[in-house]
Amino acid sequence: MFPDVPLYHGFVKQGGGVMASAHQKMKALCMMMMMLNVFICVLVGVTWNHGDDKSVNQRVRIPSAKFWHKQERSKSFWNKEQQLLDFIHNPVINFATSDESLVELPDWLNDTGPLDPCEPDYRVTTQIADYNTLPQRFQDFLLHMRCRTYPMLINQPRVCDGKPFLLLAVKSLIPHFDRRQAIRETWGRAGVLANRTVATVFLLGNTWSPDHFPDLQGMLDHEAELHGDLLQWDYRDSFYNLTLKEVLFLEWFGQSCPHARFVLKGDDDVFINTPRVINLLEGLTESKAKDLFVGDVISDAGPHRNRKLKYFVPESVFVGQYPAYAGGGGYLYSGELALRLYNTSRRVVLYPIDDVFTGMCLMKLGLAPEKHSGFKTFDIEEKHRENPCIYRILMLVHSRTPQEVLRIWSWITDPELDCQ
Ligand SMILES: *[C@@H]1O[C@H](CO)[C@@H](O)[C@H](O)[C@H]1NC(C)=O
Ligand SMILES: *[C@@H]1O[C@H](CO)[C@@H](O)[C@H](O)[C@H]1NC(C)=O
Ligand SMILES: *[C@@H]1O[C@H](CO)[C@@H](O)[C@H](O)[C@H]1NC(C)=O
Ligand SMILES: *[C@@H]1O[C@H](CO)[C@@H](O)[C@H](O)[C@H]1NC(C)=O
Repeated sequence: MFPDVPLYHGFVKQGGGVMASAHQKMKALCMMMMMLNVFICVLVGVTWNHGDDKSVNQRVRIPSAKFWHKQERSKSFWNKEQQLLDFIHNPVINFATSDESLVELPDWLNDTGPLDPCEPDYRVTTQIADYNTLPQRFQDFLLHMRCRTYPMLINQPRVCDGKPFLLLAVKSLIPHFDRRQAIRETWGRAGVLANRTVATVFLLGNTWSPDHFPDLQGMLDHEAELHGDLLQWDYRDSFYNLTLKEVLFLEWFGQSCPHARFVLKGDDDVFINTPRVINLLEGLTESKAKDLFVGDVISDAGPHRNRKLKYFVPESVFVGQYPAYAGGGGYLYSGELALRLYNTSRRVVLYPIDDVFTGMCLMKLGLAPEKHSGFKTFDIEEKHRENPCIYRILMLVHSRTPQEVLRIWSWITDPELDCQ
């Protein structure tokens, strides 16, 4: 039911028919490259030590420009910021001194923006050539992309006291009361399901007065009291801030739910066959469960350059292909991986598209998401949508209205329905 496909890194896919001789040649070549690398490292190390012996206030010198040739400053803002983060966290450079303040950045990286990452970063207005022509919401993203700390307005610190087997984390928006209620009454009902503990939380940001949304906070507070399943942070809940929602959730998870075995993070307009998901999880081996990350995987994608598209990202901000990533409609991963993802997320510059960002974090961990045919984030063929039996074998379908969610749930839980 769940093919044991090896996890691959980024785009390097395993060819099926690689012959043994070619394989061995590759191995020999790799060995040679490794030895060459070691040789260069030793050389560089010797040069460093030689030059810096006398100075007490030692600073790590960046070797000749040629060695770092590939590390030239990128002209795209996101890539350049990522180069900076990679540099700061590079263990090869930091081993020389445990005191980060002693590491001197090369000139092209000496450009870290305001000290407080939550101050607007006006470097973007000059460093991104076409900044002034970008859509307003993209400009907003760029100005604030370094800030990852926002206060929590509503928390449920005890929601995971029962050490849930499965935590359902649902991305929602304040006005979506009906979607949340439909989920509570169906696939997201917290409690014991198929003899496993399930907990559910809804992830919410805030509204921002210049956006002219009516104030629903009082109703939200009431809902939180009634159901105890809302998490809300004080940031403007917009499309480009979904990445923020991801990292704030991962941070919360590490603090308040680190013992949940598995996490399913999805949108509030999906249908999830929770019993089937639990069944899949119970069938996993220990090692498989540890690194689990499955969903509707998109490979070989890259940024859209058409300004009219929702997923538009200009070249002045990002160049390169996307790593394999699981569509944000819903993906399933282990709690243990969630903890590692949070660690890694701090070394990846926030990207305006949340699921691509998560793919980038996975790649940094040396993992890739695994495709599972039961996750249908692009829906199923129209002719099957009214077939109750289809939903018994699927894990997740996007998108469904609250009424559809209730109807499909009644189908999959109907003991009379015979799907043989
Ligand atoms: C980095 O920039 C700061 C402020 O502009 C300056 O004081 C410092 O000397 C610079 N360091 C290097 C290595 O260029
Ligand atoms: C329910 O789960 C517990 C452990 O989680 C197990 O000990 C028990 O045997 C299970 N019961 C059934 C009926 O599967
Ligand atoms: C994200 O939220 C922050 C905090 O409310 C806000 O300053 C920023 O403009 C938002 N970004 C977008 C793209 O809406
Ligand atoms: C996260 O990073 C911290 C510090 O670098 C480390 O102590 C911890 O073990 C890491 N946690 C995981 C789950 O990787």
